[in-house]
Amino acid sequence: MTGGGPQPGDDRPRWYGRRRGHRLRKGRQELLRDLLPRLRVAPPESGGRLDLAAVFHRSVTDVWLEVGFGAGEHLAAQARAHPHVGIIGCEAYINGVAGLLAHVREGNLTNVRIFDDDARLLFDALPDAGIGRAFVLFSDPWPKKRHHRRRFVSPENLDALARLLKDGAELRFASDHMEYVRWTLERVTAHPAFSWPARTRRDWLQRPEDWFETRYEAKALGRGARCVYLRFLRRPRGSRGRPPHTVSGGHPPVAPRG
Ligand SMILES: C[S@@+](CC[C@H](N)C(=O)[O-])C[C@H]1O[C@@H](n2cnc3c(N)ncnc32)[C@H](O)[C@@H]1O
Repeated sequence: MTGGGPQPGDDRPRWYGRRRGHRLRKGRQELLRDLLPRLRVAPPESGGRLDLAAVFHRSVTDVWLEVGFGAGEHLAAQARAHPHVGIIGCEAYINGVAGLLAHVREGNLTNVRIFDDDARLLFDALPDAGIGRAFVLFSDPWPKKRHHRRRFVSPENLDALARLLKDGAELRFASDHMEYVRWTLERVTAHPAFSWPARTRRDWLQRPEDWFETRYEAKALGRGARCVYLRFLRRPRGSRGRPPHTVSGGHPPVAPRG
């Protein structure tokens, strides 16, 4: 299944990542068979938008979205810490999906829903301004120049997130790949819907307390890499003007360097 390239007449975006890893243990296979269908979010067959309140089968005070949750540690920790928030996780790597399902079962988490495919296929089904926070953590950096267009942070995906996020909502991004960090800063700060309120180095070098460690982050820190944590805000719709971004010392928009 790896690669999932488009077929003639297929306008699905191309998927470049892995869909499967090692063979899953029996317990994980059972989670995929029995629990995933109960938690799966699916775009309406008739097209149109999902009713987010109905997605959770229970009342939630807000809905958050994580794109590429990997094995789901961060998503599960957020779900535990915010039991009244509904969290939709998107991940096309089935071993990762099974990992999140294990956390859901262990923690008896009732506020998690899963889209087990490319997040871009879900975006059209989500309503305008329905998401209160979005996470894109340690997204694949695709370091080779000829692969940069595979990066999740792109004008198209930022437009989609700008539509989905509520006014004032946070978009969180983290990476240990400084060139991808700079790429992201350039694109997000150039986008009219987003601001970057960071003012000092601490704002991007220190992971806030309500932001849980991911598996990729732990690996990066373990090999001594520096991680950068970016919090962007969705500007209120209808707000005018985009003041130039400055960090302490009055610099123009500066992407953190290693
Ligand atoms: C480098 S891993 C990081 C996983 C996790 N966030 C972490 O920090 O441990 C990136 C993950 O994002 C997933 N991913 C990338 N693009 C995606 C997309 N458009 N929709 C859903 N998942 C995506 C990949 O399958 C991969 O598992």
